[in-house]
Amino acid sequence: MNTMSCLSSNFKFVFLASTVIWMTVMSSSLAAVDASNVTTIGTDSVTYDRRSLIINGQRKLLISASIHYPRSVPAMWPGLVRLAKEGGVDVIETYVFWNGHEPSPGNYYFGGRFDLVKFCKIIQQAGMYMILRIGPFVAAEWNFGGLPVWLHYVPGTTFRTDSEPFKYHMQKFMTYTVNLMKRERLFASQGGPIILSQVENEYGYYENAYGEGGKRYALWAAKMALSQNTGVPWIMCQQYDAPDPVIDTCNSFYCDQFKPISPNKPKIWTENWPGWFKTFGARDPHRPAEDVAYSVARFFQKGGSVQNYYMYHGGTNFGRTAGGPFITTSYDYDAPIDEYGLPRFPKWGHLKELHKVIKSCEHALLNNDPTLLSLGPLQEADVYEDASGACAAFLANMDDKNDKVVQFRHVSYHLPAWSVSILPDCKNVAFNTAKVGCQTSIVNMAPIDLHPTASSPKRDIKSLQWEVFKETAGVWGVADFTKNGFVDHINTTKDATDYLWYTTSIFVHAEEDFLRNRGTAMLFVESKGHAMHVFINKKLQASASGNGTVPQFKFGTPIALKAGKNEIALLSMTVGLQTAGAFYEWIGAGPTSVKVAGFKTGTMDLTASAWTYKIGLQGEHLRIQKSYNLKSKIWAPTSQPPKQQPLTWYKAVVDAPPGNEPVALDMIHMGKGMAWLNGQEIGRYWPRRTSKYENCVTQCDYRGKFNPDKCVTGCGQPTQRWYHVPRSWFKPSGNVLIIFEEIGGDPSQIRFSMRKVSGACGHLSVDHPSFDVENLQGSEIENDKNRPTLSLKCPTNTNISSVKFASFGNPNGTCGSYMLGDCHDQNSAALVEKVCLNQNECALEMSSANFNMQLCPSTVKKLAVEVNCS
Ligand SMILES: *[C@@H]1O[C@H](CO)[C@@H](O)[C@H](O)[C@H]1NC(C)=O
Ligand SMILES: *[C@@H]1O[C@H](CO)[C@@H](O)[C@H](O)[C@H]1NC(C)=O
Ligand SMILES: *[C@@H]1O[C@H](CO)[C@@H](O)[C@H](O)[C@H]1NC(C)=O
Ligand SMILES: *[C@@H]1O[C@H](CO)[C@@H](O)[C@H](O)[C@H]1NC(C)=O
Ligand SMILES: *[C@@H]1O[C@H](CO)[C@@H](O)[C@H](O)[C@H]1NC(C)=O
Repeated sequence: MNTMSCLSSNFKFVFLASTVIWMTVMSSSLAAVDASNVTTIGTDSVTYDRRSLIINGQRKLLISASIHYPRSVPAMWPGLVRLAKEGGVDVIETYVFWNGHEPSPGNYYFGGRFDLVKFCKIIQQAGMYMILRIGPFVAAEWNFGGLPVWLHYVPGTTFRTDSEPFKYHMQKFMTYTVNLMKRERLFASQGGPIILSQVENEYGYYENAYGEGGKRYALWAAKMALSQNTGVPWIMCQQYDAPDPVIDTCNSFYCDQFKPISPNKPKIWTENWPGWFKTFGARDPHRPAEDVAYSVARFFQKGGSVQNYYMYHGGTNFGRTAGGPFITTSYDYDAPIDEYGLPRFPKWGHLKELHKVIKSCEHALLNNDPTLLSLGPLQEADVYEDASGACAAFLANMDDKNDKVVQFRHVSYHLPAWSVSILPDCKNVAFNTAKVGCQTSIVNMAPIDLHPTASSPKRDIKSLQWEVFKETAGVWGVADFTKNGFVDHINTTKDATDYLWYTTSIFVHAEEDFLRNRGTAMLFVESKGHAMHVFINKKLQASASGNGTVPQFKFGTPIALKAGKNEIALLSMTVGLQTAGAFYEWIGAGPTSVKVAGFKTGTMDLTASAWTYKIGLQGEHLRIQKSYNLKSKIWAPTSQPPKQQPLTWYKAVVDAPPGNEPVALDMIHMGKGMAWLNGQEIGRYWPRRTSKYENCVTQCDYRGKFNPDKCVTGCGQPTQRWYHVPRSWFKPSGNVLIIFEEIGGDPSQIRFSMRKVSGACGHLSVDHPSFDVENLQGSEIENDKNRPTLSLKCPTNTNISSVKFASFGNPNGTCGSYMLGDCHDQNSAALVEKVCLNQNECALEMSSANFNMQLCPSTVKKLAVEVNCS
């Protein structure tokens, strides 16, 4: 196995480089699309049988990757697609985001981040296929599951069942989208890249909850899709009753045991989750590369033919597109390409190696039925062999604890626990899912001032020019309405804003004990969610919110009342609308009970009182986030931005950080709110911490079934500290940063951070203590031609500047925390320094020329190295 090939030729930052470079790349690639004679390109026929998709008469084994166009920016699309292609991906899969495309009934938007046609053409230009999951219900951790909020308010509408207005609008949008794709000749049947389309999404989970209406709806959706005549097959994922010829597909962490409902359909995995999403206040999930590779290898071992990573690049939930409640602005997903567009090592590289090996077996796999052989109680081989002599084998060890040596065709093979070895010639192991030959990159967020003077010594060393605008705590301007009791938050805002003011007032007698320092006035609130700030007489008293599991919350807080009239103003907030579930669109938000206790007469229940409502913030009504280039009277200049001020808008003119690295906004010193750059919506920020009492792992055991709670990190840390600001949003100078802070923070401490690869780790081990590197033999040794070699590479334009750790022996721990074991070659560091220092990349052979192979003869030998790049 050539360990270098798991690195990207793009292991430098050009693909995310400055706007200027990107513009060049983009216009040339788009120009190429225009110049190409689309009508003369041959059309593709896409059919299928029980084994695979068949494109133009050829069976296809396909690796697919989800990249959602609105979760990055057009300037990033060509680089993301190229990086996917380089990672061995054949197909890009995306959902279509209805609520982004039809913001109000009949009013369509397909521009900017929602320019679906441009996205498709970039994929076509890269020579890749597409799976278009139109839905248009998508879930996707996207606001309201992708359905427009206005549709919920079309009278008589119930989502995702046999409801006439729902079906009418769904069909209308589906038809609009299909026609747009047809007009641009994007279906394979027209010579375009789209080989499959999806209708609905994971409806099988909830169909029963809708009774007969649900059954009728599922059937209607399939027929409506088929009637679109796209010329390519339709799929429905997690849909046990998808009617012919619609293909039902699998979504899960593992789909090797999946069987399509009908024997004439191929086994397609639409969602293999290589990580998981995050919610504000929760820990950070990771899925180990070994387990992702295991699941993929098992799927192809067991007859799968199309496998899609959901997500391959997760990206960012910009603005208010995050679903909820509480889905973070980051949708990194621990995916093979990180939120910022950088390949994630080792995951991206390990899967690239896997794809190459699986593709090398394509012919043998697709043209034969396998022979299943038992190799032990939890070990099995599937052998794909034909008369012409083609043979490929998968040897799996499903034991989640123990390695095993198995015999296959009279040769012994060492199978690590929970791993699959792939033998493209039925003899030599080309890949084992548990052996990560690819380096791990160490990535850090390097802080840089909003006004970086270091990069330009001539620039004045002056602090930023801040301007502020204070929101009123409570009703501003004219109240929207007054009503006895509580209205539902979402029914009232219709999600035009996160914010809704609920205000009332109470009268307090001067004789109350709590006014004389005896006892306390307490406010008790119950809410359907999602978050709330309490203001009494315009002063912030308390904040509360639901957690990642439940949106509801209740709390009691002491409040400061005065004699006479007191104003109670509750700022209720949504933090992303529900994304899925039976009848999810009916789930409400906002307070349901408010009481004040501590009076001589007991507790005052305000639940049925007269409440006065105001929808949204004044700044939102003024469209203040777009006011950056106006000589606006709204803003008040200030030399120092005020700290710890609730309900404050801040504006500053900032510089574009130097260099090409991806940029984030570091909001660790802020409370909760939203941010914009040059009028572009960065999104909600909330550096909410997860409890330090929860369980986190320092080292993840890849062995055994994965679940999102298995390998979590970040206990006691903010779930999301950094917020991606795409490079293409910056101008060379005069960039306007606008922040709305709800609770209070220190804006003078806001920094940009640049995402940089600062180092690399690699480790290599041999299978047996008796392993004789000088005398390599036997097919269980992967590198049967080359000696085992550990390769390390720094990003282009950086070199290996120091060796942080090097040990040949039995070191343990993981990248960033390697430790010496009791067996250690004292010369390890000196050797690694000699070979690697001041080089961009280096290769370390496990040979006696380099290391003391005679050391600790009974120990399994391992080489672990960590270097810094600069
Ligand atoms: C485009 O197609 C037309 C008609 O089929 C043909 O005459 C023309 O040469 C083609 N142009 C290119 C650039 O291939
Ligand atoms: C969220 O709150 C609910 C009820 O208040 C509790 O049962 C659950 O454990 C909490 N979840 C987390 C992740 O804190
Ligand atoms: C929203 O309003 C509708 C129509 O008045 C009502 O049927 C529904 O129950 C309300 N939703 C909530 C969560 O209160
Ligand atoms: C690493 O090795 C040291 C010394 O042999 C041992 O004390 C320690 O427990 C090991 N740590 C792990 C995580 O295996
Ligand atoms: C990296 O090392 C090479 C020689 O190995 C040298 O030419 C180059 O200038 C170095 N680059 C940096 C950024 O130090």
